[in-house]
Formats: sequence, structure tokens, C-alpha cells
Amino acid sequence: MSDTIDWRGSVGKEWADKVDGLDLLLGPTGDAGIEALGDLSGKCVLDVGCGAGTTSRALAARGAIVTGADISSDLLDVARERGHANYIMADASADPLGGPHDAVYSRCGAMFFDDPVAAWSHIRSEVSKNADLSIVCWCAAKENGWASIPMHAARDILELHNVKQAPVGTPGPFGWADPAYFAPVLEQAGWRDLSWEAVERPAMFTTGDNPDPVERAVEFTLRVGILARHLKGKSPELRAKVANSLRGVFHKYVEDDAVYVPTKAWVITGKG
Ligand SMILES: C[S@@+](CC[C@H](N)C(=O)[O-])C[C@H]1O[C@@H](n2cnc3c(N)ncnc32)[C@H](O)[C@@H]1O
Repeated sequence: MSDTIDWRGSVGKEWADKVDGLDLLLGPTGDAGIEALGDLSGKCVLDVGCGAGTTSRALAARGAIVTGADISSDLLDVARERGHANYIMADASADPLGGPHDAVYSRCGAMFFDDPVAAWSHIRSEVSKNADLSIVCWCAAKENGWASIPMHAARDILELHNVKQAPVGTPGPFGWADPAYFAPVLEQAGWRDLSWEAVERPAMFTTGDNPDPVERAVEFTLRVGILARHLKGKSPELRAKVANSLRGVFHKYVEDDAVYVPTKAWVITGKG
């Protein structure tokens, strides 16, 4: 695992606290990846980086027998409470994963490995011949409003002008933004018949029960995600300024009593 994002510690905890909002944000593109697996009745499916288990439950609802693997104990606690799958604390890049599985799915859990070829070779060693693969991973940050809108709104206040986007291939949310990077990685790891499709779906940006949709979006943005990480240790005054700037932007995205932001992800499919 990369140390850039501390999934075993604070980031896993943050995600566990905001599962409601994260599921709404990741759900629309994540569902496209589940649909790509077709009929799952009776199949053993591995959910890589299953987090709080929302997708593991969705796979189980389609008749699959699901193993969810993750390294965050906080997220696995939430997943186990919700049930419907066998959840294992495992580094998916190296630990036994309970195979052989008939299919592998991952919603935004593929891009955090330090050595992705080794990790995806290991995962392939845990599947049966011809197993199906479906990976959902973000396209570029500029195409994902959940990342670009808050960062733009806070840029002047937090002096983020010189913050450079990590290059594709760096473990992180946009590490697999380019097929020219991820396709060779998966091929070298032994996956075949690869294809990918960009799926664009608006997603709700919200948490909590404030009656004002803009305030729910502001709360979400300040608590979890890329901007929240830039706000760590900043003064209450600066945070208040950022919150005001976010309010000024989010109201433009309100629809049906919620803020919706554009999301765009690759759905990558293949065979083991
Ligand atoms: C962006 S979150 C997505 C979580 C979940 N798939 C979802 O869609 O809600 C990435 C997940 O990958 C997990 N993860 C990161 N590195 C991992 C590794 N080496 N092995 C297993 N899980 C890992 C994190 O703990 C986190 O739950």
C-alpha cells in the first residue's frame, strides 16, 4: 500500500464516518461496473478494497457469494455490521484472498497499490480460469466535479496555485486516469481481453441532515476528500472563508434539493 493515503489510519476512519455521502458520490459510476459483470448468480466474487462493503452487498444482492478484502479496520467494522459478505482484513496486493474466485470487482480500490503489476498478478492468482474482471477508477480530476469544483473554489484562499496534480501512475485517486497507463499494467499482470469505457454520471454531493442542500455539500467537502486534506491544520478563519467560497459555487449545482456534481470513471473489463 502507498503511504500517500493512510487507509489503515485516519483516511479509513474519515471514510467510515462519511459512508453515506461517499456511497452517493461513488454509486452511479460504481453501479456501471457491477452491471458490466452480468449474471452473478452463484458466482464467487472478490471485492478488492471493499471499504464499508456497499458494493459487496450490491454484488450479493445479485446472487454472488462475496469476499470483501480491505486494509482499513474502521471500514471493515462498518462492512461487517452491514453483513451480506465475508469480509477479510487483507492487503489485496499480497495476502491470501480466499480464492479461486469467479469474478473480481473493485470500485475505486484499484489505484492505491505501490507495485500495481505485482498486486494485480497476485489478485489474478486468486481467480479461476476465465474469471471476469470489472474495475471502476476515476478519469482525470478536471473531469470530476467532486475534485475540481472544491479545489477551484479554495485555490486563492489556500494559495493552491502551485499544487501539482500527481502524475498518472502515482498511487492515488487519479493514478489510473489514463488507459495508456492502466492497460499495460493489467496486461503485464496477466489479465486479457481488456476493454474500457468512460462512464459519466452526475452524483449527489451531500452528507448529514441539514435542510439546505448547499450546506450539506459544504459539510461533506470540508470533512472528506482532496480539499479536506488541504484543510488539515488550517485556522478556523481560513476554513470559514473556504466554506463561504464553496457556498458561492455549490448553489449553481442544486437540482431537486441536492447538489449534484459531474463524475466520470473508467469501467475496465477483462478476463483472468
Ligand atoms: C477509494 S476507497 C473505495 C472503497 C470502496 N471500494 C467503495 O467504493 O466505497 C479505496 C479502498 O481501498 C482500500 N485499500 C487501499 N489499499 C489497499 C490494499 N493494499 N489492500 C486492500 N484494500 C486496500 C482502502 O482501505 C479503501 O477502503
